[in-house]
Amino acid sequence: MTVASSEHLLIVDDEVRHLKALCDTLEAQGYVTTGFTSARDALAALRKKNTFDLVLTDLMMPEIDGIALLRAAQEIDPSLVGVVMTGHATVDTAVSAMKEGAMDYILKPFKMSTITPVLSRALAVRRLRIENEGLQQRLGTRTQELEAANKELETFSYSVSHDLRAPLRAIGGYMELLLDHLGDRIDDESRTYANQVTSSVARMNSLIDDLLRLARTTRTEMHRTPVDLSALVLDIAGKLQAAAGDRQGDWIVAPNVTADADLGLLRVALENLLANAWKYTSKTTRARIEFGVQTQPDGTPVYYVRDNGAGFDMKYAGRLFGPFQRLHAERDFPGTGVGLATVQRIIHKHGGRIWTEAAPNQGATFYFTLPPAPAA
Ligand SMILES: Nc1ncnc2c1ncn2[C@@H]1O[C@H](COP(=O)(O)OP(=O)(O)O)[C@@H](O)[C@H]1O
Ligand SMILES: [Mg+2]
Repeated sequence: MTVASSEHLLIVDDEVRHLKALCDTLEAQGYVTTGFTSARDALAALRKKNTFDLVLTDLMMPEIDGIALLRAAQEIDPSLVGVVMTGHATVDTAVSAMKEGAMDYILKPFKMSTITPVLSRALAVRRLRIENEGLQQRLGTRTQELEAANKELETFSYSVSHDLRAPLRAIGGYMELLLDHLGDRIDDESRTYANQVTSSVARMNSLIDDLLRLARTTRTEMHRTPVDLSALVLDIAGKLQAAAGDRQGDWIVAPNVTADADLGLLRVALENLLANAWKYTSKTTRARIEFGVQTQPDGTPVYYVRDNGAGFDMKYAGRLFGPFQRLHAERDFPGTGVGLATVQRIIHKHGGRIWTEAAPNQGATFYFTLPPAPAA
């Protein structure tokens, strides 16, 4: 039998006749072999020029034994595999050799036919290990490239959004000048068109604001501290209520709910969720908005914002978190559709999950988790 391989074996055996027989037989099978009767010489050769794939060594040798040799060899080249040869009397030692990193052992005396499968198995493991290392490395490089590309994209969308402001301001400004200039000479139809332009400019302005806010959430660094979510919710609710004039709602806020989170980001997330709850209950007789926490069987806290408003069909729940995705018409409930995309990014940034439960005209609930930061 011959092996279609030019893998290089380092063979160590203090018995010259035995060593020679091994080298000759394995050479005949297609391996490249280099033999040494002393472990010291073998290690010196390995240090000088490491082209070896496998070390096949006798276990019992004077000076340096097989285990010590393997340990030293693997320090020089961690990908090197080792196979030890040992007599029946020392099978315990063979087991400890395996514990020390030998891939396999061969009991002496052996027939040449038993040695080949052991060697090819060990070499196959080595090839897999090397391949795996290469894959890991490529994966690392790809991940870095992907992160860099993402960052570039974020920077790009940030600067685009930012740069769109100036021409938009010009359009709005010149429209005002034009209207001023025309004074009473403008007819009703032209005024209607002009008003369309003005309101489109306003809408585009709020889209840009939201886009910038979305880009900013990914760009900002996280600083986790213990955050009093209950206090945050009450503060935001107070502001929504104050800005709403006569409209009154019931706010049910569970006390003392805390999380280990970034205060600024959590504020943005809760502002969006609560503003949605408040907005989508605007056609409900009496809004009831609830904030609280439930504990899952595995102990994970799940926070939620619940309302009794317009709700939506769960069929579309999947797209809700994409930017510009809206399930309600602008004339019923105005908005840009960037809010939930921002919320999702914030929750993901914390390593959490967000999902929703809703039905048309039966309100909506948004759930999210905020796992504690992994121990560094
Ligand atoms: N509390 C809610 N009740 C009903 N629908 C909601 C609620 N929150 C979000 N939605 C739906 O999800 C869409 C996306 O929300 P969001 O990204 O905040 O955008 P916006 O509020 O600007 O429309 C909304 O247009 C609406 O259709
Ligand atoms: Mg919104």
